[in-house]
Amino acid sequence: MRIITFGTFDVFHIGHVNILERAKELGTHLIVGVSSDALNISKKGRPPIYNESDRMKIVESLHCVDEVFLEESLELKGEYIIAHKADVLVMGDDWAGKFDHYSNLCKVHYFPRTEGISTTKIIDVVRSTTVS
Ligand code: CTP
Repeated sequence: MRIITFGTFDVFHIGHVNILERAKELGTHLIVGVSSDALNISKKGRPPIYNESDRMKIVESLHCVDEVFLEESLELKGEYIIAHKADVLVMGDDWAGKFDHYSNLCKVHYFPRTEGISTTKIIDVVRSTTVS
């Protein structure tokens, strides 16, 4: 079974490891779409801390990950699912329900987020503890 998931994976943290490991347990081949710097700028109004090639390299270095590619548009998820012959789409439950329309292409599975951590939270903590 081929599993696909998507994310920014910026300032890599334990919540990212947990969802990728859980995703891999659903199948045999895990493919991760890492969102591009340009996509993040348009989505969040700021560039990621780590650039897209570093984020891809970090994600690709994990044992549970078999393949990574650059996600250049949120609207292309269906095309990515088809191109990578994915059987299951995995997303965190912050996206619950939002990807159900892809169930005509593959199974859609949401995992609960790891509580208490996010890239945004880490950036805020670092900012508030940095003495300038
Ligand atoms: N994720 C998770 N648990 C967390 C944080 C993220 O399961 N505590 C999952 C998300 O649901 C998503 C994937 O990890 O499926 C990539 O999430 P991403 O948006 O890159 O990470 P966040 O830490 O949520 O980033 P941000 O704070 O910038 O939104």
